[in-house]
Amino acid sequence: MKHQLTKYLLFVLLLKTISGLTGVWRWECEEGYCQKKEITPDTQDTAISLSACRLLCSDASALWPKPTGEIHVGTTLVKVNPNSISHSGVGSEKRSHSLIGGAMTRFNKQLNELRPKTKRADGGKTLEITYILSDPGLTDLTLETEEGYALTVVETSDGRLNATIVADNFYGGRNGLETLNQLIVYDDLREELIMPNDISITDKPAYPWRGLALDTSRNYITVDAIKNTLSAMASSKLNSFHWHITDSHSFPFTAQSLPDLREYGAYTPKKIYTPEDVADIVAHGRECGVRVIPEFDAPAHVGEGWQNTDYVVCFKAAPWQDYCVEPPCGQFDPTKDGLYDALESLYGDMIKQFQPTIFHMGGDEVHFGCWNSTASIVEWMQNQGWGRSEEDFIKLWDHFQTEALKRLYKQTSSNIPVILWTSTLTEGEYLEHLSKDQYIIQIWTTGSDPQISNLLANGYRVIISNYDALYLDCGFSGWVTDGNNWCSPYKGWQKIYENKPATVAGGKNDLVLGMEAALWTEQVDSASVDTRLWPRAAAMGEVLWSEPSNGWREAESRMLVQRERIINLGVNADALEPEWCRQYEESCPTNGKFNK
Ligand SMILES: *[C@@H]1O[C@H](CO)[C@@H](O)[C@H](O)[C@H]1NC(C)=O
Ligand SMILES: *[C@@H]1O[C@H](CO)[C@@H](O)[C@H](O)[C@H]1NC(C)=O
Repeated sequence: MKHQLTKYLLFVLLLKTISGLTGVWRWECEEGYCQKKEITPDTQDTAISLSACRLLCSDASALWPKPTGEIHVGTTLVKVNPNSISHSGVGSEKRSHSLIGGAMTRFNKQLNELRPKTKRADGGKTLEITYILSDPGLTDLTLETEEGYALTVVETSDGRLNATIVADNFYGGRNGLETLNQLIVYDDLREELIMPNDISITDKPAYPWRGLALDTSRNYITVDAIKNTLSAMASSKLNSFHWHITDSHSFPFTAQSLPDLREYGAYTPKKIYTPEDVADIVAHGRECGVRVIPEFDAPAHVGEGWQNTDYVVCFKAAPWQDYCVEPPCGQFDPTKDGLYDALESLYGDMIKQFQPTIFHMGGDEVHFGCWNSTASIVEWMQNQGWGRSEEDFIKLWDHFQTEALKRLYKQTSSNIPVILWTSTLTEGEYLEHLSKDQYIIQIWTTGSDPQISNLLANGYRVIISNYDALYLDCGFSGWVTDGNNWCSPYKGWQKIYENKPATVAGGKNDLVLGMEAALWTEQVDSASVDTRLWPRAAAMGEVLWSEPSNGWREAESRMLVQRERIINLGVNADALEPEWCRQYEESCPTNGKFNK
């Protein structure tokens, strides 16, 4: 370490002759902290900025999520010219080629955003990035896709920076690029971009599903806000965007074969997603290494948009507590044959627009009180020889789910994985209705619910979204009552960081595909979506990628750096603590090392 720092000092001495310093503060890596010191005549040649100090001094060079394999980052920092970056090596595979091109455009843009507009003059070393992909034809991110990579950077004898990213496919290559991006920082003492000239990192994720669920029905979220969300996901190597696109409140999705749904269901003619918007979001997601998964939640959570059909019962029923868990109520009538034709059309439109590798059928919060209060449904059930007990309504629900799944499979291949939320149907006694080969269960109950171990014991693959840690809408004021909302308190990033899959699952279990943080938008729209999601979702990103055994305190200084990176993307991530704590790492009372 000492030897390498000396190399850096020599380099700084050379550099000093061509640029002056801004400000009176420098940072020094001492006892594992970046410490704030005044620049004196003695130290001005060797002074380094906080961002440079973090690269040299922070755990894993402040990378987020922390790589899981070898991490070697040299301490010689060199100036890099963002106007002289090139890439090669993806060969003739057109689609991977254009995906890499898109990822490179984001990369270049982010580097430029690091610098103030007035400081974008040329100068610095050329950076050449070579991709070596063994499966360049792979362009769909599935549950089996290898997302790991190996990144090396060396300086050539003629002074160019030679970066090589070896991966199975584009997605791994993109993750390597993201890591490289995090190792290029803006030095605000010398006002230039710098990076280590010697890097060797191998890395791959612990879990294949690192997700974020966003509701765009309670309140509309603009296409730009969604694309920003995908960009922020990319920066934390989150890879699954679960789009809860419709609900009983509004229907902004454009189903070309059922145009009334949007016509009647969107809040305004502008608050919609056209097929072009969906294509734009899906394509942006790919470039960000993110699969976009559509959810059509049914048979509950339907209402607006279906006014011209007789498929929905209990719509806007009052008092709502008797018919649903949140107003406005609305539930499909599973006894209507026409319903399944409509669903097939809707699924077909979603499949065409999203080209998904996985589909979400919702299935949460079905309210038997609604079906039980509908005379025609009760009569239909009687004609089947059924009664009106819970078991009978489960049979009705099973009828819906079976018929709906058949229609989905008519529009896809029959082995497309389907996700359902936990519900009465996923409780032990009724589980037989759902095949473990067809369904993945998304858990939204508490992390200590025995249903989780039951699902795992029965061989179901699960995605964990326990609301006591991963619901990002918790902790605000109520809207159906006064006081705070139902899942208060607010879940801080520390709580999210401590919510480990192995703990929730009662041990490491391959059936746990990963986790998903969820944002329900009753009290959020495009104006505030960034601060609700970020930087908290990034905390889960590291939990799922790195599977850290440490707690949040050890991750804190890197988390603060990651929050700054997200801000740099133009995403309004919330502040976690006074900036003072970032500058006086060793003295800040929230600091993990200080408190140990
Ligand atoms: C740069 O890296 C590539 C890929 O690893 C390698 O083939 C090439 O020889 C390197 N160039 C130099 C000048 O070291
Ligand atoms: C449905 O309503 C009937 C008549 O009120 C009642 O006896 C039955 O318990 C209800 N079923 C359920 C599952 O609540």
